[in-house]
Amino acid sequence: MKINFLINGNKQVLDVDPMRRLLDIIREDLQLPGTKESCGEGECGACTILLNGEPVTSCLLNAVHADGKEIQTVEYIAQQPLGKLLIDCYDETNAVQCGFCFPGFLIASYHYLKNDGEPSLEKIRYALSGNICRCTGYTKIFESVLLACQRLQAGKV
Ligand code: FES
Ligand code: FES
Repeated sequence: MKINFLINGNKQVLDVDPMRRLLDIIREDLQLPGTKESCGEGECGACTILLNGEPVTSCLLNAVHADGKEIQTVEYIAQQPLGKLLIDCYDETNAVQCGFCFPGFLIASYHYLKNDGEPSLEKIRYALSGNICRCTGYTKIFESVLLACQRLQAGKV
């Protein structure tokens, strides 16, 4: 099946099995390894991408779900001003250890910052509730996103 989609601003036309996992298309066919696989069952959020602007777990989607859609992966988000702000805040608060979960956290945090951005710990916790980290613990991650929200609100971006 031929599928057409935009990924990170680039048009792609692929002839693939419509049931091939979107995660495998992104990592293997398109050589964008920033999106990680951990559980492979839709539980951990490591494989999160933006599909038409919404965070989704790409391990649960197939090629057919991408047809006619727009995808953004962590490679793209990390280059955007809000993505860079978040990366700086993760860094300053020492929120990252192995970093395996962070592509997913970056996508979920970016979506929150872009669509709400209120510096509310409760809302941030909810926005990141689909992402699991096995090493850092969540306090520093939430604090780093809070810091990014505060900087954005203060116009420091
Ligand atoms: S690898 Fe997709 S949710 Fe865990
Ligand atoms: S930093 Fe290791 S899983 Fe989150």
